[in-house]
Amino acid sequence: MDERAVAQLAAVHDVLYDPQLVDDATRLLTEARRADVLIVRNRTQVQGALLAALGQCKLVGRLGVGLDNIDVSGCAAKGIQVIPATGANALSVAEYVMASAMLLLRGAYASTQAVATGQWPRNALSNGRETAGQTLGIIGFGSIGQTTARLAQGLGMKVMAFDAMLQPDAPVFSQNGVCFAGLDELVSQADVVTLHVPLVDTTRGLFNAARIAAMKKGAVLINTSRGHIVDLAAVAAALQSGHLGGAAIDVFDVEPLPANAALQDCPNLLLTPHISGVSLEANERVSFMIADKVLESLK
Ligand SMILES: NC(=O)c1ccc[n+]([C@@H]2O[C@H](COP(=O)([O-])OP(=O)(O)OC[C@H]3O[C@@H](n4cnc5c(N)ncnc54)[C@H](O)[C@@H]3O)[C@@H](O)[C@H]2O)c1
Repeated sequence: MDERAVAQLAAVHDVLYDPQLVDDATRLLTEARRADVLIVRNRTQVQGALLAALGQCKLVGRLGVGLDNIDVSGCAAKGIQVIPATGANALSVAEYVMASAMLLLRGAYASTQAVATGQWPRNALSNGRETAGQTLGIIGFGSIGQTTARLAQGLGMKVMAFDAMLQPDAPVFSQNGVCFAGLDELVSQADVVTLHVPLVDTTRGLFNAARIAAMKKGAVLINTSRGHIVDLAAVAAALQSGHLGGAAIDVFDVEPLPANAALQDCPNLLLTPHISGVSLEANERVSFMIADKVLESLK
């Protein structure tokens, strides 16, 4: 949490701020018993023993958006309100998506080692694609999906979006100048597919081998949403076969991702450690949004 937001809370309340607490289960449970409010990122599992230990807690603040580390209905049953920082890191994720899309479509940026060692792979890198004119398919048209659409349109991309919770004529599509597309239509037509859905039963395994095979040849897949939504082995196979033109993966079934030989020599693959929503600016916005909501609820 941004330390100035911690200081804002500490000026009024008794605050224990300890980024290492998540790794000390015994102390975490002890401290949780006396907490009126718990503020977590994505690693702290607010369920099971920790949820049971929250004897007097009224609110869980989530420094981020995904709630898959929190037993939301279990919290509700105990009268604990759960507050995510919806929207506060959307721009950071959207910029990551656009940067990845541009790098992977163009395909010319992995040449540092070759150029520095006196090679000149100009011919091999001459078939990169421009971003303008390509079709971006957005799956999940919430806060991040909509922000990504705005950036993509600024770069001249055509944008189509699918959202399982929204009707095709929902105003949010036309208000953002975006075409609604069915899931199969989007997957078969988009040059870049980006995922912005929560991890729930209906999204688990959404991008399995069959769905990846249904993507356009040479398309790029970007997953900043959650692990378990994309089958990483299928992504690696599709990159190796040349069916996928590139992939950027920021989130994994298990984090940290254990060493994975199949991914190490995959062409056109960007792997990042769950960082797309984390930047100096986003951390500040997320932290102050949660601090303000906590102060408000404790008034
Ligand atoms: N990698 C990171 O650093 C990072 C940062 C922020 C958020 N995230 C992830 O991104 C997800 C989206 O964030 P957001 O702020 O846009 O959330 P949001 O709640 O604003 O939007 C999510 C959208 O997904 C839609 N949706 C739900 N189920 C769906 C389904 N089965 N198919 C298609 N759409 C479906 C919802 O209707 C909603 O419009 C979060 O749940 C989180 O897991 C990751």
